[in-house]
Amino acid sequence: MVKLNVEIESVNKVHDEERQGEIYSATTLEGERNSGRKFYVETYGCQMNFSDSEIVASILSGEGFTPTDRYEDADVVLINTCSIRENAEQKVRSRLSEFRRMKKSNPEVLIGVLGCMAERLKSKFLEEEKIVDLVVGPDAYRDLPKLVAIADEGQKAVNVLLSREETYADINPVRLNSNGVTAFISIMRGCNNMCTFCVVPFTRGRERSRHPQSIAEEAKQLFNLGYREVTLLGQNVDSYLWKSEETKTAINFAQLLELVAQVNPLLRIRFSTSHPKDITDEVMIVMKKYSNICKHIHLPLQSGSSKVLERMNRTYDRAWYRMKVDRIRELMPECGISTDIITGFCGETEEDHKETLNMMDYVKYDLAYMFKYSERPGTFAERNFEDDVPDKVKSRRLQEVIEMQNKHQFENNSKEIDKEYEVLVEGFSKRSKEFLFGRNSQGKVIVFPKSNFEKGNYVKVRVKEFTSATLAGEIVR
Ligand code: SAH
Ligand code: SF4
Ligand code: F3S
Repeated sequence: MVKLNVEIESVNKVHDEERQGEIYSATTLEGERNSGRKFYVETYGCQMNFSDSEIVASILSGEGFTPTDRYEDADVVLINTCSIRENAEQKVRSRLSEFRRMKKSNPEVLIGVLGCMAERLKSKFLEEEKIVDLVVGPDAYRDLPKLVAIADEGQKAVNVLLSREETYADINPVRLNSNGVTAFISIMRGCNNMCTFCVVPFTRGRERSRHPQSIAEEAKQLFNLGYREVTLLGQNVDSYLWKSEETKTAINFAQLLELVAQVNPLLRIRFSTSHPKDITDEVMIVMKKYSNICKHIHLPLQSGSSKVLERMNRTYDRAWYRMKVDRIRELMPECGISTDIITGFCGETEEDHKETLNMMDYVKYDLAYMFKYSERPGTFAERNFEDDVPDKVKSRRLQEVIEMQNKHQFENNSKEIDKEYEVLVEGFSKRSKEFLFGRNSQGKVIVFPKSNFEKGNYVKVRVKEFTSATLAGEIVR
């Protein structure tokens, strides 16, 4: 199983018409001017980018635009981009060449590039891709209506300023592509770590945390609308810290988790991503205390070799990572653990690679996103190390990592037979309308007969079959 969190394409579908009508009425002058105009947004990259597209949708809806899920029908076509690896950027470029054809037949349509690629390339984008009218970085979405107005006048519009404060805390996201059951909530933006391979600190800027009350409020609103699961998002959630000037108090991630868990016992809480250097006992203890906080931790390993980890500037080593895994298992033996792994980072030897495989064998991850190292312009690694592992070797090592992961998932899932889980139903199974699917607390997908259940229900299911990717079961009466 390779990378589900990145490079997934999304189109604009808003199922929650009522909610939109309720919150977003076009009252401003701009709103009236834009009334009847449509926007389309397509998203690449991580969950944070998907969450950002929902903020963009909210801002544009507030200015009179309506969303459409067909780019051919849109007056403004937006593409929210990812720079994490070379191939993520290539996908965006090939998509832009499809939009080029559309622009030829309809020159009035505006094309905007948002997100990490916009931030990385800035106005250079306008030179490279002539069809682009707008270039907007992740912290400049409030400016979108103004930028669209500039582009309407036939000028190119760019805002790629990064902010130290922007968290879009007051913006009520318009849920795109929503199943009406699960939703993302951004709790922070940016990243202060400097992993040497990573472009995110350059595209997303400094880390800042969002006001805890606005997070809890958003969770409450979602619950009242029928949602039953929220995922709290940040590049490194463990370093969440909200400091109040007024009360001279601070709220850390463990406290935030507790606050959101208390919104309603029927609202499940997930979070991503945890950083092995920062995850605390306090967080694990809060997880253990609340049954509605899902027992799943995404703990990116990146490499199992301490030497490589040091070159990556991950600031932990093999022993530290193992200790964190041991602690999770000690406090919550049932907790699912997933990870990210990079193969072929600068200077990675065969021995380093074996240490990664060896660590995988120790942890036996339930899920892993696995990547070949891709050198990113401007990063510390690009400036200081040689990208010296040949592509063929990177690929072979990736293949070995994938094979090991598949083996572990198969073994882990085989142990699930006859276990009973509470599953939150997310929708119909892809194969048949007679079956529903959902996830257990550990994040594993379980398929079971529909009976009289529907989306948003909690159902007790006993596991009866498995593959390396999915479990299937029967309803426990
Ligand atoms: N903030 C998260 C990860 C964000 S990016 C964390 O610290 O774990 C998601 C994943 O993409 C990373 O965990 C890493 O495995 C992968 N990644 C990042 N930069 C990469 C690069 N240059 N080449 C290959 N994979 C990369
Ligand atoms: Fe990138 Fe490291 Fe920050 Fe994750 S923690 S976003 S890998 S710099
Ligand atoms: Fe990609 Fe930016 Fe996310 S580079 S992975 S979209 S933070």
